Amino acid sequence: MKVILVNGSPHKDGCTNLALEEIEKELKKEGIETEIFWLGIEPIRGCIACNKCIKTNNRCFDNDKVNEFLDKVEGADGFVFGTPVHFASASGSITSFMDRVFYGRGNLFAGKVCSCVASCRRGGASATFDQLNKYPLISNMYVVGSSYWNQIHGNNKEEAKQDLEGLQTMRNIGKNMAYILKCMEKANLPKPEYEKTIRTNFIR
Ligand SMILES: Cc1cc2nc3c(=O)[nH]c(=O)nc-3n(C[C@H](O)[C@H](O)[C@H](O)COP(=O)(O)O)c2cc1C
Repeated sequence: MKVILVNGSPHKDGCTNLALEEIEKELKKEGIETEIFWLGIEPIRGCIACNKCIKTNNRCFDNDKVNEFLDKVEGADGFVFGTPVHFASASGSITSFMDRVFYGRGNLFAGKVCSCVASCRRGGASATFDQLNKYPLISNMYVVGSSYWNQIHGNNKEEAKQDLEGLQTMRNIGKNMAYILKCMEKANLPKPEYEKTIRTNFIR
């Protein structure tokens, strides 16, 4: 079993990464393989609505971090998407990344587990948490919660280390995700059979 933890911060080793590492430790304790996937600081373009993803399944128009990540999705059972709060929202790069990763790819993520986390100095974490949760919640994924909102506070890593409740919340995400993954593996049930998607645009 494998979980990929995406760091949507421009800081490779900042507060978001600290939160992801705290989750990762719990997953590793349960024997789950992990990988932290940093989005880096190169620009990630927004979706250009070209629909190349629909035609080519796992490919996106720009051969950047999105395609690098998509190549890994099939080999993973769970995901954690983490972001710093930028103006009470997710970072620009993870917003573009999520739009392009999830658009038209419900089948790629269906039946996998997911959790989202936000890191902020003071405010906007729950709005950001809501923003990121929207992607897995319409992709037939199983969204894993914790003992409080999935957020950690600090303006830098040293401050975030002092947020003991935030760190505990992260550890509980890891514990819950490991538990769900193990239950799923043990039960080994066939995945739900979904009906052909009905798309009723609001023009009629
Ligand atoms: C452009 C920008 C906007 C920010 N906006 C907010 C904000 O709205 N609320 C807040 O609490 N912190 C805000 N911050 C601070 C970061 O969210 C905070 O320092 C975060 O924990 C950094 O995580 P990182 O080290 O993983 O990048 C902002 C930082 C930047 C660079």
